[in-house]
Amino acid sequence: MAAIRQSWYLVQRPKSEKLEAGKHFEWREEPLPETLDAGSFLVRHIYLSLDPTNRIWASDVPQYMPPSPLNEVMRGLTIGVVEKSENSDYPVGTYVSYLGGFTTHNVVTKEAVAAFPPGKLDWAPGKNVPLTAYLALINLVSGFTAYVGLLETGAMKEGDVVLVSGAAGAVGSMVVQMARLKGAKRVVGIAGGATKKAYLLEELGCDAAIDYKATDNMDAAIKEACPDGVDVFFDNVGGVTLDAAFLNMKLNGRISICGAINMYNEIEGGVSGPKNFGMTLMQRLTVKGFICTDHLATLWAPFEKDCKDWVASNAIKYSVFKTEGLDKAIESLDRLFTGDKPAGAKLVCQISAEPDHIPLP
Ligand SMILES: NC(=O)c1ccc[n+]([C@@H]2O[C@H](COP(=O)([O-])OP(=O)(O)OC[C@H]3O[C@@H](n4cnc5c(N)ncnc54)[C@H](OP(=O)(O)O)[C@@H]3O)[C@@H](O)[C@H]2O)c1
Repeated sequence: MAAIRQSWYLVQRPKSEKLEAGKHFEWREEPLPETLDAGSFLVRHIYLSLDPTNRIWASDVPQYMPPSPLNEVMRGLTIGVVEKSENSDYPVGTYVSYLGGFTTHNVVTKEAVAAFPPGKLDWAPGKNVPLTAYLALINLVSGFTAYVGLLETGAMKEGDVVLVSGAAGAVGSMVVQMARLKGAKRVVGIAGGATKKAYLLEELGCDAAIDYKATDNMDAAIKEACPDGVDVFFDNVGGVTLDAAFLNMKLNGRISICGAINMYNEIEGGVSGPKNFGMTLMQRLTVKGFICTDHLATLWAPFEKDCKDWVASNAIKYSVFKTEGLDKAIESLDRLFTGDKPAGAKLVCQISAEPDHIPLP
């Protein structure tokens, strides 16, 4: 009997609501091809990265790349291992990171490789850099995003005061630590709940932390945490947090817009601008959005080097929260919006076992 792959197909676009299996997504099983065309290879997916942007891709609002097409496998970033190959650049046992989608297996064709070659992970069981570091740090969606948004878009310099929203999340926890490692004078994190606040102070070494769920005046809370004002605000959240940050920026401060997760589940209703935007003029602020992939050519190499140094010297903490099984992936996505995951953890879905039997190249 032919081997099968299991997948979530996007079949209906959400309308100001959270994503639901059965409504927006359909579970499908299809046979895998028995033979591969020249230049193709078959990847078994081990991990699927669960990211806030999955909610954006499911929608057809204007966005930074085309929406995930309807009636196709939902787009998603995966880590997998090549199990069959007709491509000598990707022999059996190669670990790859690419947009493999919400599916257990994928045949990567010669044309797909030409359009966007899957990245090869310099990873093997027992090597110095564990796979967890690739899932939580040395990847596009957490570590590289933090690096770009803090150092390039936010133009952080030694001695700056850095404020971070979503600070106990996958990106935010990296921003906090990179700010410290790059010489910020003061780093302040904002997150939801006492446990996440304690994590920011005790584990990540924030100088101050704000529990936004226990704060009804965010402006006052930021003023108390950053009495001399903020040089760089790294924003993952938007909404009232961004509004309050505008009131606390220093002259010539920079606001790095990484995300606005507070409104992704209602994104089809439009995104309202910050009501304190006038502070851009008063304080001569730079407010700049970024998409991490725009900076691959210039910043990936220094980022990777810094990360490997930090991992080798235990200078940076990273962790993953693994949800089990592709069948639970859609419901697991909601943890990003409820915050129901451990502080500092990158949310991933484990699709299949990490291999220990496949010969490495
Ligand atoms: N620009 C880029 O290139 C790029 C690339 C990757 C990611 N991003 C963005 O980076 C941000 C963080 O992504 P991530 O992967 O690191 O996710 P994450 O922070 O690990 O998880 C999302 C967190 O957001 C917080 N949150 C959810 N709804 C909220 C709300 N209404 N108000 C305040 N906080 C809320 C929750 O933390 P609490 O428990 O603290 O509430 C939750 O744990 C997202 O906005 C994402 O879109 C941008």
